[in-house]
Amino acid sequence: MSTNPLDNKAQAWSALFSEPMSELVKRYTASVGFDQRLWRADIDGSLAHAEMLAAQGIIAAQDLADIRRGMAQIGEEIESGRFEWKLDLEDVHLNIEARLTQLVGDAGKRLHTGRSRNDQVATDVRLWLRGEIDGLAALLADMQRSLVELAAQHAETVMPGFTHMQVAQPVSLAHHLLAYVEMFARDAERLADLRRRTNRLPLGAAALAGTSYPIDREQVARSLGFEALSQNSLDAVSDRDFALEFAAFASICMVHVSRLAEELVLWMSQNFGFIDLADRYCTGSSIMPQKRNPDVAELARGKTGRVVGHLMGLLTLMKGQPLAYNKDNQEDKEPLFDSVDTLRDTLRIMAEMVGGIVVKPEAMERAALRGYATATDLADYLVKKGLAFRDAHEVVAHAVKAAMQQGLDLAQLPLATLQGFHAAIGPDVFELLSLRGSLGTRNGLGGTAPAQVRSQIERHRARLA
Ligand code: ARG
Repeated sequence: MSTNPLDNKAQAWSALFSEPMSELVKRYTASVGFDQRLWRADIDGSLAHAEMLAAQGIIAAQDLADIRRGMAQIGEEIESGRFEWKLDLEDVHLNIEARLTQLVGDAGKRLHTGRSRNDQVATDVRLWLRGEIDGLAALLADMQRSLVELAAQHAETVMPGFTHMQVAQPVSLAHHLLAYVEMFARDAERLADLRRRTNRLPLGAAALAGTSYPIDREQVARSLGFEALSQNSLDAVSDRDFALEFAAFASICMVHVSRLAEELVLWMSQNFGFIDLADRYCTGSSIMPQKRNPDVAELARGKTGRVVGHLMGLLTLMKGQPLAYNKDNQEDKEPLFDSVDTLRDTLRIMAEMVGGIVVKPEAMERAALRGYATATDLADYLVKKGLAFRDAHEVVAHAVKAAMQQGLDLAQLPLATLQGFHAAIGPDVFELLSLRGSLGTRNGLGGTAPAQVRSQIERHRARLA
């Protein structure tokens, strides 16, 4: 058995170091506590690198066989929790490489030929993130499906649409829910787009300048499923813009989730009473026995803060770094990991919770009736009878004022009273003043009419099938 230069950390660098690292510095500089979750990507990347080295005649076929055997065992050790992670060995890369050399000897020492931890870590993070992106894409689709299926039951359920949080015009609940489907669909597009830029291979950049070994980067890219090679070695090891893009995507997506969560919280409150959330997503109060609190929705809203914070953290991490690799970049991992974990759990729980929403259509309808939501319809009616819109607007303002004074809805005013505001008003007005009548007239693309909403539901179903 040969000696292993990675037996302790000072020796991992070189014989140049004569003094051991202090415990504090060791802890401060180590990343193994969090970057060990990159282990599978690290092993996959190393195997692809070793296969290429063997194919190029840079290491022997026997070395490759030894490396494969060692890595298979390391993979098992890690999966079963038997692997001994050492702080002394700083990070996931050195831990795995040291164990490999312990297991297979010299072949392990040859693995690092033609690469550096700088291109290795950039490769690992991209590989890992690519896998997470695919998982998140599936969850975003589930989230959309869950909203679409709830919407499918409510194309005719009328609720108030709001502007300024004031009752504005009637919309269907389905239309409201489908607004979120549009947001999540754009999030999915953003995710697919940033996946392409994440999926480029940095390996081959070595420390910063490339390598003098006759490596075959195309082969490594093919075996790892990267769709392109990074074209500049300095850029390859130093930029983390793929992580920034991901954090920006995650932030936008969490902001969408947060708006939905906020609405669910409002809708469940006694003042709205629009919906009920299943008990399993609520908690009680330790002091007020009557309480059922929408904690899951509130936390989804609250966790948006940390994900947006991670975007700020990552942007700030990059902004002052000179080319090429700097140790600063080790700080990219925790915010990225936490963004992925938070978004994943949030999408999963929100999609489930949406599926369990109990809608109270009467409460929604009552609320829509309270705010003169069809006033615009009356104005539009008068325009169709020949009035200029501004004049019609004025006539309706008077009608609404009168109705308010009498505590009535517009549709409850007698025809004669309405005609007192303008002679052009006829008995056909009542159809429009009803919530459903109003809904039905907004029948252009993107409008809230049930026919439009149903065709949107079909489009989404086909798209998400
Ligand atoms: N743990 C390091 C990181 O996450 C790996 C790269 C270290 N490279 C170096 N030259 N110190 O960035």
